[in-house]
Amino acid sequence: MTTSPSVAVITGASSGIGAVYAERFAVRGYDLLLVARREERLQELANKLQALHGINVEILPADLADERGIQAVEEAIRRTDHIEVLVNNAGTAHIAPFVDGSVELHLADLMLNITALTRLSLAALTRFKAQNSGTIINIASVVSLNATAGSAVYSGTKGYVLNFTRGLQEEVAGSNVRIQAVLPAITATEIWGVSGVSMDILPPEAIMTSENMVDAALAGLENGEAVTIPALHDLAKWEAYESARLAIYHACLTGVPAPRYKQ
Ligand SMILES: NC(=O)c1ccc[n+]([C@@H]2O[C@H](COP(=O)([O-])OP(=O)(O)OC[C@H]3O[C@@H](n4cnc5c(N)ncnc54)[C@H](OP(=O)(O)O)[C@@H]3O)[C@@H](O)[C@H]2O)c1
Repeated sequence: MTTSPSVAVITGASSGIGAVYAERFAVRGYDLLLVARREERLQELANKLQALHGINVEILPADLADERGIQAVEEAIRRTDHIEVLVNNAGTAHIAPFVDGSVELHLADLMLNITALTRLSLAALTRFKAQNSGTIINIASVVSLNATAGSAVYSGTKGYVLNFTRGLQEEVAGSNVRIQAVLPAITATEIWGVSGVSMDILPPEAIMTSENMVDAALAGLENGEAVTIPALHDLAKWEAYESARLAIYHACLTGVPAPRYKQ
């Protein structure tokens, strides 16, 4: 008896990090469902991966900042057999003072970075919980941990991705479903052109290739990490941060205002 290959759904597969995830899952023998707006790019990648790896690749051109686009991908996730992986990678950034952005621009960024990721997670996790298997990889950012002038909306959305992922991880604890948050630092992709910040002004030594980022993130997944930060060498810093975060949370269960707030 032959078994059907598992399917990996990858959003934002037309360039950068998502295209590398597509290649890496193709190498691992997965069939693919690739999502992004640029149909030609998706088709080109699909043709290449099918020819190189003998897998089946479907493309689904969709705008995930648009209700119809999100619905189309939700439906594809619900109807496609053997889905085992969702990589919530599609994202965008506009780095500029908050008040310089329009309501429409900010809402579109929230729709893509938060709403689409949440709804696709719901569609996938509903299946994964029922079948007690499956993996969701949510691409957050090191700016999930920090915000600077110009990055309020982008950092805010990535902060959401990290905390949303933490919550889901608590819900699937003890099952065979895995959920990973990946926090890339500066990675050489087209997002910089979109964001309005030229890569030329970034310190070259701080820039990682998307191949290195994805390979490290997949190694972190295989090691069972809940949160993977490929560029962070000193893991003790993360452990200290996590420990301080949890200590503050638990220390807040006092029920009374701290003495410094007494009038
Ligand atoms: N590069 C970095 O330094 C860095 C650092 C931290 C986190 N990240 C995160 O990594 C993820 C991937 O970004 P990347 O760096 O690889 O940049 P990228 O090369 O610009 O890739 C972004 C992907 O998202 C897709 N996308 C953008 N808007 C979309 C929309 N409205 N609907 C559907 N798909 C859309 C793009 O495809 P189309 O344009 O064809 O739709 C593209 O495939 C993002 O979530 C980003 O926030 C990147």
